[in-house]
Amino acid sequence: MIKFCDYSKKNQNFKKDMIKEIYTLFNKTNEYELEKCTQELEKKFARYNNSTFSIGVNSGTTALQLALLVSGIKKNNKVIIPTYTYIATALAVLNIGAIPIFADIKEDLTIDENKIENLITKETKAIIPVHLHGNVCEMDKINKICEKYNLTLIEDCSQAHGAEYKGEKVGSKNIGCFSMHSSKIISGLGSSGIITMNNKEKYEQIKECLLPNSNKTNNIISKRTPCKMDAIQAAIIKIKLENVEKIIERKINIAQKYKENISNNKIKLIETNLKNKNVYRDICIKIDNPDKFISYMKENDIEVKQLYAPLHLTKFFKTNKNKTLSISEELCKKIVCLPNYYGITDEEIVYICEKINEYKL
Ligand SMILES: Cc1ncc(COP(=O)(O)O)c(C=O)c1O
Repeated sequence: MIKFCDYSKKNQNFKKDMIKEIYTLFNKTNEYELEKCTQELEKKFARYNNSTFSIGVNSGTTALQLALLVSGIKKNNKVIIPTYTYIATALAVLNIGAIPIFADIKEDLTIDENKIENLITKETKAIIPVHLHGNVCEMDKINKICEKYNLTLIEDCSQAHGAEYKGEKVGSKNIGCFSMHSSKIISGLGSSGIITMNNKEKYEQIKECLLPNSNKTNNIISKRTPCKMDAIQAAIIKIKLENVEKIIERKINIAQKYKENISNNKIKLIETNLKNKNVYRDICIKIDNPDKFISYMKENDIEVKQLYAPLHLTKFFKTNKNKTLSISEELCKKIVCLPNYYGITDEEIVYICEKINEYKL
């Protein structure tokens, strides 16, 4: 069976170095020495991302929540997010008492920047564009909208480590929230995340929240449960970060191989904006009757997946059918993702493409 993603194969090349790195943690004599490992990773990630600061936390969801809180987003404030994203983007908004407002997406599966403005009301305080599947949102237009309406801009970069908008890393100009969950491009083993930012005041507020200092005045978020990235995750992610260029290069190479080898004209590879750097966390295709395709691929020992449904149509968020979200409603049900993890072989990709090409609708 060719798995959609196989963590053991994904980490195989880095395992020895990761174990060595974790081993060094046993020589640390106290929590301050352990904490230094996370701090070193934070410095390295900030440098990599061209951000002034970075803070390691226990998940991408926590990263989003803290970013919202230090940006002054309060109960019942509205936050615009794309309806097509992993549910955590919306839950982070709900968890701090704010309300997610769903925006439509474009054919490239990122938020439609031209449909954001008419969702803005006086309660709207922030926008979270999501660089989904490793593809980059149209940031110039979104930035302009945020400036015009004085809204906070937080980028959900959970699926786009290393991706670039017009030559600049995602999350380097605004607050960037990254998940380092096992399924991501720079991944630990289990759960963790990183926040990047350039604003010293917000950075210090989050720091105080993570490591409360009773001599300082408590700020609005310092009552929270500790949620720092632990030293073991930091040790593992350090090795991934040292190899990130190799990982991204392979992801782009896998995408290229799929593009070159798929010739079934009933199947459309989702195109991305070539002026940006897409890091292909996922390879997405558009196909009619995806259930039939998924069963066919399974019969051929290939696991493919439909990852997300538009949130406004899910049981949890079900809102009235909304005409402005029509692209999401039409498009998302046809999206299927193909295996493309670091560690998949060229032979496996060729076999997957052969089966795709033999597929008849
Ligand atoms: C787009 C997106 N946002 C947020 C998250 C939340 O990250 P985590 O699972 O680390 O909390 C994820 C990852 O799962 C994600 O893919």
